[in-house]
Amino acid sequence: MRTCRSKTGIWTLLLTVGWSGLRAEVPPYRQASLPVEERVEDLLARMTLQEKILQLNQYTLGRNDNPNDRNAVNTQLPPEIGSLIYMGSGPEMRNRMQRRAMEETRLGIPILFAYNTVHGFRTIFPIPLAQACSWNPRLVEAACVEAARETRLTGIEWTFAPMVDVARDGRWGRIAEGFGEDVHANAVFCAAAVRGFQGTTLADTLRIAACLKHYVGYGASLGGRDYVPTEISRQTLWDTYLPPFEAGVRAGAATLMSSFNDISGTPATANGYTLTEILKKRWKHDGFVVSDWDAILQLVHQGRAAGRREAARLAFLAGVEMDMTDNCYRDHLGELIAAGEVEPGRLDDAVRRVLRLKFRLGLFERPYVPERPEKERFLRPEALTLADSLAAESCVLLKNETRILPLAPGCRIAVIGPLADAREHLLGSWCGRGEARDVTTLYDGLCAEFGAEQVRYARGCDFNGDDRSGFPEAVAAAREAQVVVLCLGERRQWTGENASRATLALPPIQEELARTLSEVGKPIVLLLSNGRPLELCRLEPLCAGILEIWQPGTAGGKPVAGLLSGRLNPSGRLAVTFPRTTGQIPIYYNQRRKARPDQGAYLDLPDTPMYPFGHGLSYAEFRYGEIRQVSVEPLVLELTVTNTSSRDGAESLLWYVSDPVCSITRPVRELKHFEKRLIRAGDSETFRFEVDPLRDLGFVDETGRRFLEPGEYWIQAGPQKFRLLIPEE
Ligand code: GLC
Repeated sequence: MRTCRSKTGIWTLLLTVGWSGLRAEVPPYRQASLPVEERVEDLLARMTLQEKILQLNQYTLGRNDNPNDRNAVNTQLPPEIGSLIYMGSGPEMRNRMQRRAMEETRLGIPILFAYNTVHGFRTIFPIPLAQACSWNPRLVEAACVEAARETRLTGIEWTFAPMVDVARDGRWGRIAEGFGEDVHANAVFCAAAVRGFQGTTLADTLRIAACLKHYVGYGASLGGRDYVPTEISRQTLWDTYLPPFEAGVRAGAATLMSSFNDISGTPATANGYTLTEILKKRWKHDGFVVSDWDAILQLVHQGRAAGRREAARLAFLAGVEMDMTDNCYRDHLGELIAAGEVEPGRLDDAVRRVLRLKFRLGLFERPYVPERPEKERFLRPEALTLADSLAAESCVLLKNETRILPLAPGCRIAVIGPLADAREHLLGSWCGRGEARDVTTLYDGLCAEFGAEQVRYARGCDFNGDDRSGFPEAVAAAREAQVVVLCLGERRQWTGENASRATLALPPIQEELARTLSEVGKPIVLLLSNGRPLELCRLEPLCAGILEIWQPGTAGGKPVAGLLSGRLNPSGRLAVTFPRTTGQIPIYYNQRRKARPDQGAYLDLPDTPMYPFGHGLSYAEFRYGEIRQVSVEPLVLELTVTNTSSRDGAESLLWYVSDPVCSITRPVRELKHFEKRLIRAGDSETFRFEVDPLRDLGFVDETGRRFLEPGEYWIQAGPQKFRLLIPEE
């Protein structure tokens, strides 16, 4: 027994020394069992100044596919760099670079790979402005889950999305990328996107870190131009532009991106009030902020910094942790520390935030990604089905006066226009790794839905220019048909970044084609594929029906044809106002009140838009009951909607609040709650709004203080209004 014991003793001794000796060789930051904060601190303490600075820099890997983001190809990429914008469509190139970081560096800190997965990676969903028109956050969240899966399987752990810039000027090409003109809609869809991208844990190898952008106020770009200043009061900052970002931070968004715009004299990328006072101190955000592309360097162009060194100092001290592509931090943070202009503790806090995300993502344990073929990573059936559904729910039936829609089975269709056989342009801007070859054209969709023998195609004209040579063929096709499906709209490059247009009108050649076809005398159903609200005052009278299909993504013509045949019932509602003409801008629904309610209109136009926010028709008919208060504490309102038609239909009920008198004047009405329900033919559904008085009736002042004043409030849902009285305390 002694022998046995002594042997056991030796083994125990060896194991103990060996194990503890082994453990002594595995530093805490490499021990996955330890808490993230402990690992962060251990790693931080081991890093040199240069290693810390490089963690705060982001460059690109691969061929840059964004023509607006110009950068010299940085061939000498240090493997200690914090992050890379990855331009590959497979994980191989990124794994090779990651192996350099893990094996050729002193500490083996993994690189964080990022990309613009805005509305899909390879499976492309409708543009976000269209998604907002679905009023279906659950579907949007599910789309982000699929987008995250394709992105992460390709070796990218971080997306620069959701974009939640409240935007009201259709001349701004980036209106396509956000969730429209309303504050609450942007907030709800922002949170849905964050949940979809990130899931419940960033360690999930099929989720990605979100990045709320562009923080903040970029949507107020003057004149709808890009890269220009914005004039935003503190009051408007708090009541309009900040709420979607706060919703995203509350939803757990890992990062934010500081925006290009100057905010009334202080550029967003050097704005300590928004980046530190609000984001870090008020909202307690423990993630980090990356600048937009070259936005730190651009402080020089904006007249805020004398040079790159000053720009680096201003941005860093304001609260931007990571520098995207201009290398101001790489080149100047070291000297700023040496000169005592940046405290080492501030540097550590920035690096801590970056390392925290890398640990949370599990990058130290799983730095590499399995190198799977595209067919295992992309376009899976669940994603395609979802793309179909979201595209169908995003389309908005704007006009159907003569009930030309749905089209009768067997009717002869002439499908005409520059979008009729287009693929690429249905993908929209920021279409990731989307491929035109994956897209179903409107023509193909109609053939599949109605039978190819029923559908004749003619291009008619190009997107712009003055070539009318296609008109005769288009007229001939129209003559043979019973209905013309006219497919007009925008190239995908006409919206997105640096894509502002001085008019919302379509090019004259497209309007001329419509006029020419209208003279044939057949009813016209206009399909619009565009990334911004359009000026339709000359087209609207020519068309019996108008369906806004936006840029529907990979699904393209399939769901659209289903809506035209009645297999699907349109349920979209506008998340952005369509002006009658460009000259009406700004004309969003939730403006503050006029001094003279019945005056102040343009002499040459009615004071109303062509199609208001929330507009959208269905093939079903809905009757709205009265708004009822069903309880006081909690304050619950209900409204019953009945589908009086013979076909099922989904209805989105938007609940608005009006406060006629307030110590700070308020918008005429504000969306505060919405819900979408399927209502079977002949059935009724009761919608509920659980009112939190401070959240839903209250307002916010220029310091961000939320307050509720006693008095009269009006609740509106559908055509119904309900008066609420908030008593004096
Ligand atoms: C661009 C855009 C931003 C994008 C970034 C990286 O300039 O402003 O939305 O995420 O650069 O491509």
